[in-house]
Amino acid sequence: ENESSVSITVVGASGDLAKKKIFPALFALYYEGCLPKHFTVFGYARSKMTDAELRDMVSKTLTCRIDQRENCGEKMDQFLKRCFYHSGQYDSQEHFAALDKKLKEHEGGRVSNRLFYLSIPPNIFIDAVKCASSSASAASGWTRVIVEKPFGRDSESSAALTKALKQYLTEDQIFRIDHYLGKELVENLSVLRFSNLIFEPLWSRQYIRNVQLIFSEDFGTEGRGGYFDNYGIIRDIMQNHLLQILALFAMETPVSLDAEDIRNEKVKVLRSMRTLRLEDVVIGQYKSHTRGGVTHPGYTDDKTVPKDSVTPTFAAAALFIDNARWDGVPFLMKAGKALHNRRAEIRVQFRHVPGNLYNRNIGTDLDQATNELVIRVQPDEAIYLKINNKVPGLGMRLDRSNLNLLYSTRYSKEIPDAYERLLLDAIEGERRLFIRSDELDAAWSLFTPVLKELEEKRTIPEYYPYGSRGPVGAHYLAARYKVRWGDLGIEQ
Ligand code: BG6
Repeated sequence: ENESSVSITVVGASGDLAKKKIFPALFALYYEGCLPKHFTVFGYARSKMTDAELRDMVSKTLTCRIDQRENCGEKMDQFLKRCFYHSGQYDSQEHFAALDKKLKEHEGGRVSNRLFYLSIPPNIFIDAVKCASSSASAASGWTRVIVEKPFGRDSESSAALTKALKQYLTEDQIFRIDHYLGKELVENLSVLRFSNLIFEPLWSRQYIRNVQLIFSEDFGTEGRGGYFDNYGIIRDIMQNHLLQILALFAMETPVSLDAEDIRNEKVKVLRSMRTLRLEDVVIGQYKSHTRGGVTHPGYTDDKTVPKDSVTPTFAAAALFIDNARWDGVPFLMKAGKALHNRRAEIRVQFRHVPGNLYNRNIGTDLDQATNELVIRVQPDEAIYLKINNKVPGLGMRLDRSNLNLLYSTRYSKEIPDAYERLLLDAIEGERRLFIRSDELDAAWSLFTPVLKELEEKRTIPEYYPYGSRGPVGAHYLAARYKVRWGDLGIEQ
C-alpha cells in the first residue's frame, strides 16, 4: 500500500477553539469528501479522557450544514470512529513519543503526513512545538504545524517567538492562521479586483477618497477577559484581521496566484505603510449599561479583568500607505466589542464627481451622494455599490440606490466556515492564506510604537456604554481627515 495517510492532532483538544471551530470544520471537510482516504484525528490534552469520551465531547459540537443534511448522522458516526484521544503534558517528550507510537499504528506503514494544530495558550507553545517536532514528527511524509495568534504582543516578543519556532521547524512547516483570510468575501477581494475590468482602474488615490475597515461585535469579552486584558482590541483585531484585509485590498497585482507571489505583494504594501502615530488613534472601553431592565456588565466587571484596567475594547485608527497608488488616502480602521451590532465590512468611498451637472438635484450633502462600494464580510455577506439614480417620475430628483449582490439570494450553497478552508489548505500545503514571518514582522512594526506609548502613558480610554455605537472620539478622528464613517449613515 503506497497511498499516504494524514494524521491530524489537535493539541489542546478540550479548549474552546477546538470545540467550536476545529472539530466541526474537520467534520464538514469529511462530509464533503475533502479529507484523504486514510486520515485519523487525534485529540491531545492534559486531562484524562477515553476515546469514547472524546467522541462524546466532539459529537456535541458537530452540526450539519443546511446543504449537508443527507445522511448526516451516519457521516458523523463514521467521522467519530476516526477520532481518538491521547492525554499528555504539553512539555513532555515522553508523552509525545507515546502519541507517536499510536499514530504509527494508525498509519499502518503508509507514507505518513502529520498535521499538528496548536490550540493552546502562548506560554506553552514552544514546549509543545519542541516535543511534537522532536518526538512525533512524521518519519516519512511531511510534518506541518498550525499556530494561532497571539504571535507575541509586539515586535520583539513576536521576533523571539519566530526565532524559537524556527529552532524546531522550517518556515514552510509553520502555518500561521489568521482566520479572516479564510472568510469567503476576503478571499473574493482579489477576484473582485483582478478579474473585473471595472474596479482596478478606479483602485487608487485618483478615484478613491478613503477606505474604511470596520469590525464590530455586539457582545463583550465574556469569559475571555483573562486573555484579552493582556492584548486589547488593537492586537486582537486590528494588527491581524483588519490589517490583512487592508493588505489584500491595497496590494499591487501579484505576479501569479502562487502563495509566495501574493505574500510578496502583501509584505510590500505593509512595508510602504507609515508607522501608526498616537494622535491617529482613539481608544475606548465599554462600561456597564442598563437597557429595558437588562444590565449589561462593563469590561472591568469581568472577574478575570483587573478593576483598574485601561485595556482598550474599542479603537479607531487612521493609517496611510506612502506609495504612488495610495499617497494621501486615509485608511480608517475601527474595531470594537460590545457595540450595537455585529459586522465586518470594507467601505470604499469614491471622490465627488467633478463638475457634476446634477449637483443641485442631489441636495446639499455632496458626501451623501458619492459612490460607495461596500464589501460586507459578515453577517449577510454582500457586495453592493451605491449609485445616484433618478427617482422615477416627471421631476428630476436623484436618490441613492444600491446595485446589490446579496449572497443569500444569489447563491444557495451555505458558505463554509473559514476554518474549513484553512484546514484544507494546510493539508494540501497551500500557503496563500497563511501569514509568512516577514509579513508578521511588518505588521507588528506598524503598531508596536503606539502600543508601547499607550501602555507607558496608561492612556485612559474613552468609556462607551455597552451596546452603543462607541466613543465619539472616532468621529473626530475621521473628521480630521474629512471622512465620515459610512456605517453610521441612514441606509444601514
Ligand atoms: C478572534 C478574536 O480572532 O476573532 C476574537 O480573538 C473575536 O476576539 C473573533 O471575537 C471574531 O471572529 P469572527 O469570525 O467571529 O468574526
